[in-house]
Amino acid sequence: MSGTEPVTLVVRGATVVNADWQGRADVFVSGETVAALAAPGTPVPGGAGAAEIDASGLLVLPGGVDPHCHVGFTSGDYTSLDDYRQCTTAAVFGGTTTIVDFAIPRPGERPADAARKQRDKAARGVCDSALHGCVVEWDDTTADQLAEMSAAGVRTVKMFTTYRGESMADEDTILRTMKTLRDLGGMVVIHCEADHIVSDTQTRCAAEGRIGAGHMAATRPELAETASVAEILAIAESVGAPVYFVHQSTAEAVELVAAARRRGVRAYTEAVAHHLVLDDSVYAGEHPERFVCCPPLRPRAAVEALGRHLFTGEVSTIGSDHCCYDTAQKEERHHDVRVMPNGLPGVETRLPVVFSEYVVGHGLEPTRFVELTAANPARANGIYPRKGAVLPGSDADIALWDPGARWRVRAEELHMATDYTPYEGRELTGRPVTVLVRGRVVVRDGVLVDGTPRGRHVPSGPIPARL
Ligand code: URP
Ligand code: ZN
Ligand code: ZN
Ligand code: ZN
Repeated sequence: MSGTEPVTLVVRGATVVNADWQGRADVFVSGETVAALAAPGTPVPGGAGAAEIDASGLLVLPGGVDPHCHVGFTSGDYTSLDDYRQCTTAAVFGGTTTIVDFAIPRPGERPADAARKQRDKAARGVCDSALHGCVVEWDDTTADQLAEMSAAGVRTVKMFTTYRGESMADEDTILRTMKTLRDLGGMVVIHCEADHIVSDTQTRCAAEGRIGAGHMAATRPELAETASVAEILAIAESVGAPVYFVHQSTAEAVELVAAARRRGVRAYTEAVAHHLVLDDSVYAGEHPERFVCCPPLRPRAAVEALGRHLFTGEVSTIGSDHCCYDTAQKEERHHDVRVMPNGLPGVETRLPVVFSEYVVGHGLEPTRFVELTAANPARANGIYPRKGAVLPGSDADIALWDPGARWRVRAEELHMATDYTPYEGRELTGRPVTVLVRGRVVVRDGVLVDGTPRGRHVPSGPIPARL
């Protein structure tokens, strides 16, 4: 073991799972970082003094990195209900130790000011966070603002091709932002649904009296997503810029991105847990409004086709798209999806739901699970290997995971600032038991033992040429 810092903690007896390797190793931690992976039973250099955790039978996973997490997010007339402390507390209970939030400017607000304001909230977190900026309109200050944001470690910038009048950007703005970020080592991360198709479809649905939450799937068709993805890929390809598509909900959209990647475009797909697990049958259920999100949940065959791309390698990352509205907010205007809040709570359930469904249920390799949920999200945000890996020098953010634990999801036992979960009653296999944030145990045996806000903003370095 190299390094002069004393070992403060050893995690013994587990199987370490990184994105590219898994095997038996003891993990030596010095203060906030991983010092070494050592052969099982290796004594602590210098003798006693280090705490030990017996993790026999468990997996040591790098703490999850959630690349898509809205904290206290205002959209339309609604603001989601959590703050950094609440969101990160729920995150660590779910094995996630880094969240990536969004600084969406309010009307008239400078993107750089929105980013600074949001970045300052990181200290209230129980774990660390990174940040996506956001550009809605281009003006002659935008390039300088992007340079300022990039210098402050905000290198990924969210853009939308929908939500007209709020956060939607036009193609010219998207192109300019892509070019500017390309030269700053940054990347546009984009929500693609062609707004003209969505809005025409919504108008038609409304005229037919089918605009309530139960009709959500019909109001935002798959075509709107694929049309927009194709347009944005063309812009990225023409200017030679990288681009990351958030919450892709169909295999067709994923395949457009994969085809572009094969042509040499640095284009990436994010899937989110709810599109990989839930289908549109819930819109015919008792509480369709609780499942209203954009893009909407898709038919079962589409969910399975999307899920297959976890295995083909075409999906780059898995996020949560966490948005913490409660049932009262979802209910209030459930008769019209155009004015009700979109988004589902999920920062706490992302890892367990995906592990159970795909690792336990469909044989996804644990290494690939880690790649999708921790390593690649960290790479896509320029924070790897500080985050997303259990390697010497990485932050000692670790989830000790019981792969065989069987449990039932109950909203009342979760920690998100809402009163429901889209997975209520679902039986899962696998969950985190003990979670470390920068070398400190914050959750031990399922109990929060250190909720002290010590979060840091993790600045993004240049986005790598390949994930
Ligand atoms: O329904 C969603 N996804 N709400 C959050 C905002 C967004 O589009 O990501
Ligand atoms: Zn979105
Ligand atoms: Zn209801
Ligand atoms: Zn989102």
